[in-house]
Amino acid sequence: MNRILFRTFQLICFLLLLAPTGSADWHSIGSLTTPEPKGNQVIFRSRQATVILTVLAPDLIRVRMVPGTTLPSDHSYAVVKTDWSQVPIEFAGDTDTSIIRTPELEVRAHLSPFRLAFYDRNGKLISKDEDSRGMSWEGTRVRCWKSMPEDEHYYGLGEKSNLLDKRGRSYVMWNTDPDGFDAATDPLYQSVPFFIGLRQGRAYGLFFDNTYHSSFDFGVEEHDVYSFGAEDGEMNYYFFAGPTPKSVVSRFTELVGRSPLPPRWSIGYIQSRASYYPESTVRFIVENFRHRGIPCDALFLDIDYMDGYRIFTWNKSYFPDPKKMLSDLRQQGIRIITIVDPYVKVDSHYWIYQQGVRNGYFMKKADGTLFTGRGWPGESAFPDYASEKVRDWWASLYKEQLEQGVSGFLDDMNEPTIVADPGLPNRTFDLDLIHATDHGPRPHAEIHNVYGMLETMANRDGMLRVHANERPLIITRATFAGGQRYAAEWSGDDWGTWDHLRLNMPMLNSMGLSGFQFSGADIGGFQPVPSPELYSRWLQSGVLTPFCWTHSEGPGNLEPWGFGNRLEEINRNSIRLRYHLLPYIYTAFWEAAETGIPIMRPLLLEYPDDWLAVNRNDEYFFGNDLLVAPVTKDDEMSRPVYLPRGVWYDFWTDHRYTGPMRIEAAAPMERMPLFVRGGAIIPSQQDMQYSDQAPIDPLTFDVYPDGTSSRPYYEDDGISFDYQHGVSLHQHLTAAQEAHSTSVEMTAREGSFTPPKRSLVIKIHGQKAQPRQITVAGREAAGQASVKALQGATEGWAYDDGAGVVWIKIPDQGTALKVEVAQ
Ligand code: GLC
Repeated sequence: MNRILFRTFQLICFLLLLAPTGSADWHSIGSLTTPEPKGNQVIFRSRQATVILTVLAPDLIRVRMVPGTTLPSDHSYAVVKTDWSQVPIEFAGDTDTSIIRTPELEVRAHLSPFRLAFYDRNGKLISKDEDSRGMSWEGTRVRCWKSMPEDEHYYGLGEKSNLLDKRGRSYVMWNTDPDGFDAATDPLYQSVPFFIGLRQGRAYGLFFDNTYHSSFDFGVEEHDVYSFGAEDGEMNYYFFAGPTPKSVVSRFTELVGRSPLPPRWSIGYIQSRASYYPESTVRFIVENFRHRGIPCDALFLDIDYMDGYRIFTWNKSYFPDPKKMLSDLRQQGIRIITIVDPYVKVDSHYWIYQQGVRNGYFMKKADGTLFTGRGWPGESAFPDYASEKVRDWWASLYKEQLEQGVSGFLDDMNEPTIVADPGLPNRTFDLDLIHATDHGPRPHAEIHNVYGMLETMANRDGMLRVHANERPLIITRATFAGGQRYAAEWSGDDWGTWDHLRLNMPMLNSMGLSGFQFSGADIGGFQPVPSPELYSRWLQSGVLTPFCWTHSEGPGNLEPWGFGNRLEEINRNSIRLRYHLLPYIYTAFWEAAETGIPIMRPLLLEYPDDWLAVNRNDEYFFGNDLLVAPVTKDDEMSRPVYLPRGVWYDFWTDHRYTGPMRIEAAAPMERMPLFVRGGAIIPSQQDMQYSDQAPIDPLTFDVYPDGTSSRPYYEDDGISFDYQHGVSLHQHLTAAQEAHSTSVEMTAREGSFTPPKRSLVIKIHGQKAQPRQITVAGREAAGQASVKALQGATEGWAYDDGAGVVWIKIPDQGTALKVEVAQ
């Protein structure tokens, strides 16, 4: 690919985008009449424009503005929650200003010219329209300008590859395959027009629900103004009052939906390559994982498993008996995920093409002839996923592979991308192609950004039709806000460079802030194959990201054992750490599905008032309590780490720190800096080669005392939807540290999921001396000579004086229990 030509093209697009907002003849909204309150809505009108404010929740207001007096029909691909309970609202104001008050927010609408300002209930300004423009339109385009205080910073916007803080740059929302990217590349594969504004520790959020080509400008055009707008569609945004980043993210994900709890196997390690074939290679890779003792749950089959890249077919010379192969692999604890592209080969002998043409399921040109473009199979037709009928058909196509034993799918190239000649940028559908959507014919310009998400919707449906009580795994490259309801996302074709490893962190963290919980990157980079050290370092942090796979195009292979014995051992240990932590990771997934708070999260979510934490692009939380500080430079054997306020334990040495402080943390090749927040109670399990190799036994809780702290524990069967009907296991653990004792209390199991008989191990860290006495449920426990002896016994306790850790082993009877350690 000619990268210079491509970058020039990107720059031209970028300049074209900038020009119109600055120089166009925008019609500002002018004066509006006094409001008409009705229920939870207030309508403001003039002959020129109509504005509707809707109070959805005490901290959530929807703003809709359309030129003219007729409101188009109301439709959203993103928003799923519409049944909000009534919020007490007060209306006040005079002829200049209308005021709407909820228990948490006050909106002041200045009528002439019409401008909005949002305040908290103490009268403190949160955000306001910029004085000279506010909401405006020009032809079909809409835009809103807001004032930008100099100490306000912006986070989110989904999959963007630069730093966490979006201030000082502009961004485009237009799903695009950039054919490789770096920190300057924009747009990328996914569009999430949502951001968090953070100022002096106080947060608000804004979601611009418009699927057209849209843009956000945080101070490029003017240094004290930010703006957002689209080429068409409505000015339609949701304002979240906060006040914490967590409350914004939680409310936003309530509005657009959350990532459902995935199957437990899918949070294991996945190995991939473009492409593993034939069958003997697949078996060879699996054998290697098993005989080398490197845990792995799934392998991904990329495009070469197909017959001539015909979707939903197998290349029978590479894979003569897929059903048998899949069943054999399953015996070895390996599942298979296959790729699905939106390319249906134009081939009159191919049944999927025939069906699509016969039933009019493909995109057509204005003259009614088939629209085609180049994909991997050559000339291809494209399903119109915006049509319910087509989604229904597409969903039915997964059946055969599912019945053969395929466990998950990856939906690729669904920006949608039409592959170009080498040296030219890829392109997409013509913007005026018409989709037969569920709410009438709509141009591609409107559907483009949701095309991939609609495909994942069909994919999910297709999987549920065959396995109604199994949680589907779908991974997608393109999607839109709310797409997390259907699929996990990965960040496309990254590069095997240290720069890319660095940009991964803010990128995945921004996705997490924007509702995408289950996201990850190609560990090691899609191409070229990374240096051995880079791969090991990438894997060390990659195992602590939500979606965890090595995926690479080569040239050459990228497997954890590929770089000699020493690095193989290091890579094995990295993946083993993920499996050791699966109970912690699974509980984090459950919490994320319940609350919307991401599993992988930037420090700003936990410490929004600490600027040093907020500004960290090179550290993140994985779950509630693990602070990850990846090594992202060649030959770096230590690195600076910022520990925010509170107590921290070094995960590897148990050394205790009290933040805020900066330290230089050791990072020998064997491990990256990893810290545990004081108060943490981290569940873990025994070594396993795949996630359901054996029931958890023992279930271990590593307690890192700091005053009194509580953490949840969650478990279920890991695969079915029965947890939604109470077949789950919930327990709460509370640790309390006092001057001469530490106690750990565990509530009785709630829910009807009952694991097989097992032991509990509670490990209390930070214990400087051998305990005087340990009681379990009031009865003195028996001391064992060593940790090793304890591991062989059914119960008792032991003290590891090297690490300062007290181990207590108890049969897990699911009842409430209290362990007390007296010093
Ligand atoms: C795209 C995907 C990549 C895949 C390749 C071939 O580049 O991003 O992951 O391997 O297509 O299917």
